[in-house]
Amino acid sequence: MRTHYCGLIDEALVGQTVTLCGWVNTLRLQSHVAFVDLRDHEGLAQVVIERENADAFAVANEIGNEYCLRVTGTIRKRLSVNDKLRTGTVELLADKVEILNAAKDLPFALHENPNEDMRMTYRYLDLRRPEMQKMMRTRIKLVQALRRYLDARGFQDIETPILTKATPEGARDYLVPSRVHAGQFYALPQSPQLFKQILMMAGFDRYYQIARCFRDEDLRADRQPEFTQLDLEFAFVEEKDVQDFVEALIRHVFKEVVSVELDDVFPRMTWAEAMRRFGSDKPDLRIALELVDIADAVKHVEFKVFAEPANAQNGRVAALRVPGGATFTRKEIDQLTEYVAKYGAKGLAWLRVDDLSKGRDGINSPVAKFLDDKALEGVLKLTGAESGDMVFFGAGTWKAVTDFMGALRLKVGKDRGMVENTWKPLWVTDFPMFEYDEEEKRFVALHHPFTAPKVDDVADLRANAAIAVSRGYDMVLNGNEIGGGSIRIHRPDMQSTVFDLLGIGPEEAEAKFGFLLKALKFGAPPHGGLAFGIDRIAALMAGTESIRDVIAFPKTTSAQDLMTDAPSLVSDAQLKELHVKVAVEAKPA
Ligand code: AMO
Ligand code: AMP
Repeated sequence: MRTHYCGLIDEALVGQTVTLCGWVNTLRLQSHVAFVDLRDHEGLAQVVIERENADAFAVANEIGNEYCLRVTGTIRKRLSVNDKLRTGTVELLADKVEILNAAKDLPFALHENPNEDMRMTYRYLDLRRPEMQKMMRTRIKLVQALRRYLDARGFQDIETPILTKATPEGARDYLVPSRVHAGQFYALPQSPQLFKQILMMAGFDRYYQIARCFRDEDLRADRQPEFTQLDLEFAFVEEKDVQDFVEALIRHVFKEVVSVELDDVFPRMTWAEAMRRFGSDKPDLRIALELVDIADAVKHVEFKVFAEPANAQNGRVAALRVPGGATFTRKEIDQLTEYVAKYGAKGLAWLRVDDLSKGRDGINSPVAKFLDDKALEGVLKLTGAESGDMVFFGAGTWKAVTDFMGALRLKVGKDRGMVENTWKPLWVTDFPMFEYDEEEKRFVALHHPFTAPKVDDVADLRANAAIAVSRGYDMVLNGNEIGGGSIRIHRPDMQSTVFDLLGIGPEEAEAKFGFLLKALKFGAPPHGGLAFGIDRIAALMAGTESIRDVIAFPKTTSAQDLMTDAPSLVSDAQLKELHVKVAVEAKPA
């Protein structure tokens, strides 16, 4: 249909006859001439339709934005060069203009920033926008680069089932009813975790897959109900083998896809250190703010808000010093207090250092009166506060304080423009094996139940479960968890013990994971791996906040596809065939 792409015509073609196809990006209709910016996925070309060419000019008078055209003509140099356009030195003088398809009036102007619902409903129009084309292409390049790298290093791309049995990764499962087995369900995989482990037991040694995963969880900017992992598994490895390999892989793709040179060696930080200093297991190291524990300085004060958690075993009193923060207004402090309340803060004490040399008189703070000289001095010393600084305090349970002070750190860092314009990758290691779920009154796995503990001995793990550390690791980039993995349990006794500690009794373990326990008994090799969130990496590379921008057809935050209108009702006949009865009265959305 065409001889060239609009976005690729150049001066080498001057004098030649070419045919371009594309969409009307803009149309300027004058009495003697029409200018059309014709757009295809490579870019724009200016098409000139002169009145002398009566047929073509008549067509020009019929067309509108986003009409789909085919234009044949001659390339010529432009009189006024457009520096902003890659093709800005040339234009196509139209000989023949064909309308391939008309376009209705658009629901939104493509060059404006349309609202999210509109974008999702008319995704095909949204995707026509050059910035969307560019972001999607970044993702495509990323996937190509990942495949090339892994293919060249002996990794084997193996598909694993989508209709499968539940693999717990901490979210709810999407279920698919079986027609043939009445009352039974497949689960869509939350990840290929167990299959990739079994592939190691099956002797494949090095595996990868660009794998779709399904998780029914609360959605956010960085979470979709279906998303894509680069899933990797290695036999006969330890932590360092996996980490060194994938670190090199990530460095390689950042260089190849977006010309970014990441650090030669990613720093490693234990989970405990990350939580202590940054209040997060995925610290954004671009922000030069840190939490400081001040319990020791306030244990003795009468102010219960501080003293109680300072003396409690699971309590925490932490301070965040904001250099230059004395400029915070009362209104801003109130807003921050409201903000941290969402993360479980019961209040947000603060202390403004107007003049450090004046001692207590140079301090402005609603809580200073509750702190004796020793406490005040201790706090100032521990935080290193100087004149002109603000210090915020969080007190309460270790978990609440860590969460809300971590959130405060990010919020203050972002609001005050303290995010350094750079790339800060790191490894977070030494995660606790288990987390105690207060509601369910039992341990839950911090990674997943197949992650190996650091201790080899089953009795040791049982005796010290509450403080056990796992062989899990996460890769974090600029405050985003871009990948997570671990060395796996490869011995059946250890796997059974971990199930048991997680409250999964022998019968349930057999019903849910009998195949794994059995497979572990036939000479399973030590193995480990990791999975990267491709959507998250692509979003970072594309410089967008939302992974929806790098997924062609994403879901809304309420897990709907507004274009196809999924999920939707199905016929009674279909339900009957699937042996499904709907308990609520289903209403169309
Ligand atoms: P994990 O659950 O940490 O590990 O997932 C790996 C990576 O996938 C990305 N990710 C998501 N991206 C978008 N939307 C989501 N809802 C979502 N959930 C996770 C994150 C995360 O780091 N089987 C293990 C991996 C392993 O142990 O090898 C797993 O799935 O970037
Ligand atoms: P109160 O005694 O509750 O009025 O609190 C006195 C000051 O301490 C106020 O500035 C509160 O915002 C602050 N505050 C209360 N609870 C906490 C908490 N858990 N962590 C930090 N500051 C708090």
